[in-house]
Amino acid sequence: MEPNTGNLRRETWGSRTAFVLAAAGSAIGLGNIWRFPYLTGQNGGAAFVLIYLFIVLLIGLPVMMAEVSLGRRTRRNPVGAFEGAAPNSAWRNVGVLGVITGFAILSYYSVVAGWTLAYTLKAVTGAFTHLTDPGETGRLFEHFVGDPQSVLTYHALFMALTVAVVMGGVRRGIERWTFILMPILFLMLILLVLRAVTLEGAGQGIAFYLKPDFSKVTTATFLAALGQAFFSLSLGMGAMITYGSYLSQSEDVVFTTAAVSLFDTVIALLAGLVIFPALFSVGGAEPTAGPKLVFVVLPAIFQRIPFGGLFGGVFFVLLAVAALTSAISLLEVCVAYMTDEKGWTRHKACFLAGGVAFILGIPAALSTGASTFLSSIPLLQMGFLDLMDMLFGNVALTVGGFLLCVFVGWRWSPEEALAAVMEGSAYPSLGRPWFLLIRYLCPLAIGTILLHLLMKLLV
Ligand code: TRP
Repeated sequence: MEPNTGNLRRETWGSRTAFVLAAAGSAIGLGNIWRFPYLTGQNGGAAFVLIYLFIVLLIGLPVMMAEVSLGRRTRRNPVGAFEGAAPNSAWRNVGVLGVITGFAILSYYSVVAGWTLAYTLKAVTGAFTHLTDPGETGRLFEHFVGDPQSVLTYHALFMALTVAVVMGGVRRGIERWTFILMPILFLMLILLVLRAVTLEGAGQGIAFYLKPDFSKVTTATFLAALGQAFFSLSLGMGAMITYGSYLSQSEDVVFTTAAVSLFDTVIALLAGLVIFPALFSVGGAEPTAGPKLVFVVLPAIFQRIPFGGLFGGVFFVLLAVAALTSAISLLEVCVAYMTDEKGWTRHKACFLAGGVAFILGIPAALSTGASTFLSSIPLLQMGFLDLMDMLFGNVALTVGGFLLCVFVGWRWSPEEALAAVMEGSAYPSLGRPWFLLIRYLCPLAIGTILLHLLMKLLV
């Protein structure tokens, strides 16, 4: 712990690496390996990937810099941060929106993370053996998510793990694990890429993933890519404000956020380079399969490598760990808010937030096949999990990111914003371009996309 220069006594990260690891741990998760490939598949492939990359560079990175510096300046949770930077204004509600959004994302995130726990067990017990085509692995998946008892058990287990970590503050331990386990996940991804691209018929998948067809691009493509950038980089709801609030003033915001964005993007790109070649090679599955995509394709590719069961087990367990370090950041935002602003104890905040998020996750857990009741309700036909992901994982994050840009670009004074982001930085010349992006390009681009969405909903 170092003494800090902010207005509150606050613990700071032990080192720059600790911050990068924690922020990368938050960013790298199901968003990269589960959500990115299935969205790429649903949105036509390579063109989506290209748009995504531009958005990460021109919107995601600047917004992450803004969030981290706002947190670092004010040393508070998201609500307190807005209050600290603009006292007695309505801006604090942006923080409140973020807390609610994080909470809602956590509820269904835990459901999907529970699937990865279950799949770890399935892989090592040989449940995938001899299932070589997606028709068979698809049936295995439907069977699993159709069983209410197992999906709820794994959802409960994952949520309990998340609560335990956030409550016990064993984060130092987690940081150390992240340091060891994430590089292993990375190496395994590389191995999987090598296997996937050398499968017979992989070329078609590589083309789908890397050769853009712009005729498929619509506004929906941009919205999906923007929402995914926010989701994957953990932006738009204050997670990076919270993590930034523990960052020392002597650290370089430009360097650290760039490193985190780069890691996150590379992992997502690699995941796509596994899924699509494998998908087209084994045949029988559609790129548009949606949330079940990786759970159907991965088991089929594990069968085509030596010791595939073991390999698959290790892979899914690492994915679960990656999901855990992300879920921690979602819960941490709610807990930081309740302890800072409402005066709750850490215990009470963790239990209550985790418990309620678990309950809110139940309909999501049952919506993928275990209960037909939910999908009989007209509004819920698309599936409760998909609906939550659309509303919170996409729209709410995008709205939050938009408001953050308007705040930092227009409400905070330019001097203040520039000083906050550049303090401790070795790249002072990047200050102005960053500010121009946050003030003009980001809100304009995000605003246009949101406006299109609004018009589509109204007509
Ligand atoms: N980024 C994480 C992932 O890719 C999910 C996540 C963690 C998140 N914290 C967040 C998403 C905050 C949005 C906001 O899996």
